[in-house]
Amino acid sequence: MVHLKNKLTQKEQSLLRDQLNHEKLCIQKYNNYAQQAEDPQLKQLFSQYSSQEQEHYDTINQLLQGSQILSAGQGQAQMMQGGQGVGQYSMEVGAMGQQAPQSVKQGRTGLRNQDDAMLCMDMLATEKFISSAYDTAVFESANPEVRQSLQHIQKEEQQHGEGLFNYLSEHGMYDAQ
Ligand SMILES: [Fe+2]
Ligand SMILES: [Fe+2]
Repeated sequence: MVHLKNKLTQKEQSLLRDQLNHEKLCIQKYNNYAQQAEDPQLKQLFSQYSSQEQEHYDTINQLLQGSQILSAGQGQAQMMQGGQGVGQYSMEVGAMGQQAPQSVKQGRTGLRNQDDAMLCMDMLATEKFISSAYDTAVFESANPEVRQSLQHIQKEEQQHGEGLFNYLSEHGMYDAQ
């Protein structure tokens, strides 16, 4: 096993263990919702995100075990370029999270689609929570490898949020007021 240059602090370990549990919850929810969703496109979206959450789980698990992160390096270049867009996007999600429950168009989308919309909005809220927890964890990371891995994962959580948001918008399940 390859070891990190510096040992993880207690705080890092504790935050990583929390995030490991969050990822586990995400995997389970996406798997369940992929089965429950009516729309094949949404099923596919949930399945795809589930496997990305699995990668996050594996990365954090490796960090906790003190091994070097193989996947973390891949996203770093993208991460540096993408900084600006990420901030903008967080604001959109923040605004949306508050309005989401009223925004299901009941008459037009029908009951089944309404169920799909609820699954989608539930995952959007989950992603928003997890992204915010990663934000805290990034600030508390003393170890640069841990910090970079968490930043990379957080960017993907924000992309998940964007995908869910776009699905809702494209299907008339969200009123952009
Ligand atoms: Fe994740
Ligand atoms: Fe995610």
